[in-house]
Amino acid sequence: MVRQAKLSDLSNIAAVHMKCFPDSFSTCLGGKLLEKFYSEYIKDVPELFLVCEDEKKNIVGFCMGYYMEKNDYSRSFLKHNFFSICFKFLGRLLCGDKRAWKKLKKNKDVKWVLKDEEIHKIPNEKKGDLLSICVLNTYRGKGYASDLINSYEQVLAKRGRKICILSVETDNGRGVGFYEKQGYTVYGEAGKIKRTYAKKLEA
Ligand SMILES: CC(C)(COP(=O)(O)OP(=O)(O)OC[C@H]1O[C@@H](n2cnc3c(N)ncnc32)[C@H](O)[C@@H]1OP(=O)(O)O)[C@@H](O)C(=O)NCCC(=O)NCCS
Repeated sequence: MVRQAKLSDLSNIAAVHMKCFPDSFSTCLGGKLLEKFYSEYIKDVPELFLVCEDEKKNIVGFCMGYYMEKNDYSRSFLKHNFFSICFKFLGRLLCGDKRAWKKLKKNKDVKWVLKDEEIHKIPNEKKGDLLSICVLNTYRGKGYASDLINSYEQVLAKRGRKICILSVETDNGRGVGFYEKQGYTVYGEAGKIKRTYAKKLEA
């Protein structure tokens, strides 16, 4: 079952995140900071934060994002938790955590190349962004992810959004395969590292 997330779900959401994104820098920040990160979205755009539950009502996946013209959540998270993030980041670097070193070395100069002019011309007020979708390993391939993304697109469409945009790392074979199966097409590319996908939503 898919439902809107509540603030009381935050610890379960953070736990699912850490299991689904073990290699991500965000995971090495730890559960408490992840909860704070996601709480910014649940508080401000609750309709765009969905969780899916198994038959025992355990949260086994989630899907969340924001409206394209409002993209300052990461900045606000960084501002409000600056010292905790720096402290955690330094600690992880000193421990030799690969994820922290990867983040430090990340090539910020990779150029983003537009692949779909038509989508680009649509104003941000008509676009929604899907920031993250994940489902616990044992629940994959069972339709939970499709239920989540379909519900998410319906919320966006009801709010007058024409397009859903998302980014995925090119080496995430299952993520790329999933989005393409859902009808997403390439909108832009950041070298060989990342792809941005877009899908037109039914009114
Ligand atoms: C991405 C994710 C949410 C998709 O959920 P899922 O339940 O695995 O999705 P599905 O099984 O419905 O679809 C995956 C599709 O990708 C394709 N696929 C599966 N494994 C693949 C692989 N290794 N390489 C390429 N394509 C693959 C298949 O087309 C598959 O659909 P099919 O088996 O019906 O043909 C889930 O895998 C996940 O949580 N991954 C970790 C988090 C993540 O990477 N999120 C996306 C980036 S934000």
